[in-house]
Order: sequence, then structure tokens, then C-alpha cells
Amino acid sequence: MQALLAFKLGLVDDDNRLLSWGREVQNKDCCQWDGVYCSNHTGHVVKLDIGDQSLQGTISPKLVELQDLEYLNLSFNNFSRSQIPNFIGSLKILRYLDLSSAKFWR
Ligand SMILES: *[C@@H]1O[C@H](CO)[C@@H](O)[C@H](O)[C@H]1NC(C)=O
Ligand SMILES: *[C@@H]1O[C@H](CO)[C@@H](O)[C@H](O)[C@H]1NC(C)=O
Ligand SMILES: *[C@@H]1O[C@H](CO)[C@@H](O)[C@H](O)[C@H]1NC(C)=O
Repeated sequence: MQALLAFKLGLVDDDNRLLSWGREVQNKDCCQWDGVYCSNHTGHVVKLDIGDQSLQGTISPKLVELQDLEYLNLSFNNFSRSQIPNFIGSLKILRYLDLSSAKFWR
């Protein structure tokens, strides 16, 4: 949850697509947040599906703390202020990675 909140801090979410990502009582369980999926066995985040959410900003390195991540989809956003983060290579069990049309700076 801390890693996801740190990740959200780096993002510019003008359309409030990540409104459910918060500390409020009704949002206590980050596994219920939009685009966040947890393992039913470990409770750890295994999938982050936030493609096409009009997001801008930068990708926080805190994301690497989600070491159980198997699926990461950041496609169709606008990350023109960041490069593709190197730390994605440290997500050891990642199986699906979609950065298409995410407009990363190069
Ligand atoms: C966890 O279980 C629910 C309900 O059976 C299912 O919809 C969901 O896809 C499962 N989560 C994962 C990551 O497999
Ligand atoms: C990623 O998200 C986009 C937008 O929702 C979707 O079209 C695409 O199929 C997804 N990619 C993968 C690999 O699931
Ligand atoms: C992407 O974001 C930058 C600022 O971060 C902005 O200048 C640019 O117009 C945006 N591009 C699109 C296609 O929205």
C-alpha cells in the first residue's frame, strides 16, 4: 500500500482515475483499488492494470517494492516526463509488461 501511494504521488491524475487509491476508511484495502489485483494466496499485489487512464507524471522507483508483480500495464498514458525506468528489470517474476503508447521520453 505504501509503495502504491508513493507511486501515485509521482503521477498526475487530472481525471481522478485513481480516486480509490487513498488512505480513507473506505479505501483501507489496497487490493480493492481500481487497477490493483492481489494474490488470493499471499495478499501481495500481483497485477497493476492502469493502461489508458490519462495518467501523466513520473514512475516512482517505489514500484519496485511490489516484488510479486506479474503483470504491469502502463500503456496509453502520457509519461513524456520520464524515461522507461530501469528498475522494471528488477521485477523478477514479471510476465506481462505493456508500455505501448505510454509516450515515455527517449
Ligand atoms: C481472486 O479470487 C477472485 C474470486 O474468486 C477472482 O475473481 C480473482 O481473479 C482472483 N485473483 C487473482 C489474482 O487470481
Ligand atoms: C493494457 O491496457 C490496454 C488499455 O486498457 C489494453 O488495451 C491492453 O490490452 C492491455 N495490455 C495487456 C498486455 O493486457
Ligand atoms: C503529454 O504531457 C506533456 C506534459 O507532461 C504535454 O506537454 C503533452 O501535450 C502531453 N501529450 C499528450 C498527447 O497529451
